[in-house]
Order: sequence, then C-alpha cells, then structure tokens
Amino acid sequence: MYEALLWRMTAELGTGGPLDRVVAGHEDAPGPSAVALRLLGTVHRLVLERRAEPLARYYPSTGGHFDLDAAWPLLEDLLDERSDDVVSGLARPPQTNEVGRAAALVGALLRVPGAELPVRLFELGASAGLNLRADHYRYSGAGGAWGPPDSPVRLAAAWAGVSTPTDRRLHLVERTGCDPAPIDPTTPSGRILLSAYVWADQSDRLERLRCALDVAARVPAEVRRQPAGEFVADLRLEPGHCTVLWHSVMWQYVDPAEQAVLRDHVRRLAGQSSPDSPFAHVYLEPTRRAPGADHEFLVVDEQWSHQSTGPARILGTAAAHGLPVTWER
Ligand SMILES: C[S@@+](CC[C@H](N)C(=O)[O-])C[C@H]1O[C@@H](n2cnc3c(N)ncnc32)[C@H](O)[C@@H]1O
Repeated sequence: MYEALLWRMTAELGTGGPLDRVVAGHEDAPGPSAVALRLLGTVHRLVLERRAEPLARYYPSTGGHFDLDAAWPLLEDLLDERSDDVVSGLARPPQTNEVGRAAALVGALLRVPGAELPVRLFELGASAGLNLRADHYRYSGAGGAWGPPDSPVRLAAAWAGVSTPTDRRLHLVERTGCDPAPIDPTTPSGRILLSAYVWADQSDRLERLRCALDVAARVPAEVRRQPAGEFVADLRLEPGHCTVLWHSVMWQYVDPAEQAVLRDHVRRLAGQSSPDSPFAHVYLEPTRRAPGADHEFLVVDEQWSHQSTGPARILGTAAAHGLPVTWER
C-alpha cells in the first residue's frame, strides 16, 4: 500500500499540487530523516483520529480496503484541507516502538549467564518503553517457547538457527529507559501516535502493537525524557543483580560525540562489574560485520562479570522489525 502511494506521490511531485505545498522545505532532507515515513505516518494519524473520514474507507487499519485510484484524490484533498496538521506532523521525527525487536533482545538476554541473577533493565531510545515489558511477551521458535503462555503478545516463529535456551528464567526487578521524545503508551494520544507510524496495511504489526499497549497499561515502566548520554552517566551496578543496558535501532540517531560518551560509560560499568554484579550490554542495531560489508541488523552482546571479560559477540541477525531472529550461537 505504501509503495503504491509513494510511487503515486513521486509522480505528483513538482506539479504544484497540495503535495508540493506540504513538503516544501523538505526537498533536501537527508534520507535518514525519512520524510516519506513522516508524511505517511501523519496521514495515518489523521485517519486513526477520524479526521480523514472519506480516506479512512481505504485504510485497512480502520477496516477499509486499499484502492490506489479511489484513495489518491481523497488523500490529495486531505493534504489540501488539513495542510497545517500535515506540515506540523512533518516536523516530527517518526516514532516507531517495534515490539518484534523484543525477540532479539530477550533471546540475547537468555544467553547471558549473569542474567540468572535478578535483572535491572535499562533501555536507551526506549520510545514508549514497550520493550521494557519484553518478559511479558510469549516467544516461540528454535529451542521451544518462552514467556507467559497467556500473554496477549505472541511472537510466533520468532527464533530460527541455534536453539534459544528456553529453560532459563528471567526475573526483572527494575525497568527504566530514556528517550528524548518519550511517548506515554497509556494515553489515547500516545497509543494513536505509536499506531500511526506502523504501515496501515501491516495488520500483524498493528495487532502486536495493540496487544503490547494492553500489557503496558498493567505493567509499569519508566521512560525518562533524557538523551542516552545523560541517562547512562547516572547508571550504577548493584551487588546481587545483573545490570543490563539494551537498545534497538537507536544508535544511528545519536551523534558521534554522544556515541563516544556512551562507549566510555559502557567501559566504566564493565570495569566496575564483578561476579556478584555482572553487567551486560545487548543490542540490535543495523551495522556491519566488517568495514565494507553490507549493513545487517546484528544482535550483539558484550558481558562482563570480572572473571569472564569478553569482546562484543555477534549472536545473530534479525529482520529490521525484529522477526525472525536467526541465531548463530
Ligand atoms: C527507530 S526508534 C526505535 C525505538 C525502540 N528502540 C524500538 O526499537 O522500537 C529510535 C528512538 O531513538 C530515540 N533517540 C533519538 N536520539 C536519541 C538519543 N540521543 N538518546 C536516546 N534516544 C534517542 C528516538 O526518540 C526514538 O524513540
């Protein structure tokens, strides 16, 4: 659906129509600013807020059936009639909190020996904090199933490759994240905003998100309004606990100076770790195995417990939205 809409938009650009008027000023935006996703996310938000009624008939997320020729003139009308809303929506970076990525983060954590202790979980770029509740989701795949059997969030066929040790337990005693632009998943506007950045015909992702929002309503987690560099500076280890710092698809948004600060704090925490207070850094980020290699969404862990100090290990690869994860170890 979005591919069809974006090709149609491409053909309209430069014709002086409503599309040109709303995207004015973004002509030279760099690729990572994702203007196309900002625009389609903003339109989707108006559809979900019932402020784009005729167009909603063609949006699967509101029960409609997509038809490009029928939807396009209505979308153009919306860009014209609600141009102020669309222009302000374009100013906002997309906010996607992808629950599928929990499969990579939890699968990695189950491979961390220190996580047999009670876990204090800290997440960078947590968005709405949905993945701070990752132990409340049900996963299945190579190695069996893990997580509460009655969880509404079901990540089926989440794990391929080397078996995940599903006999391990995780006991999370703290869940705190940071994000410069956190979203409150317990408010109606927060729920709509998160749904808006999921593509309107991806019903599996929308359903997963809806169920995760229900979990978020009953499992508290804190997301502080802070950039990652500031947040990590306050982080300390605690005896008798495994401190875990994890993140997914946020590193590219952090500028090089802040990335250096983060690396320094990871080293500081690693240096303070001991068998009684292990520290693990776990992430799913698009990166390269070697200079010049293609980008892949690699699942990586670094763990320290004094005795076993290890360099970063590539545990596996995942799809951009998490599922499936193919484990290599
Ligand atoms: C693509 S989203 C991913 C959100 C979540 N980690 C996930 O995988 O679903 C990127 C997130 O990084 C956050 N972000 C951007 N700059 C940041 C920074 N300097 N420190 C922490 N988070 C940041 C954004 O606000 C956004 O929520």
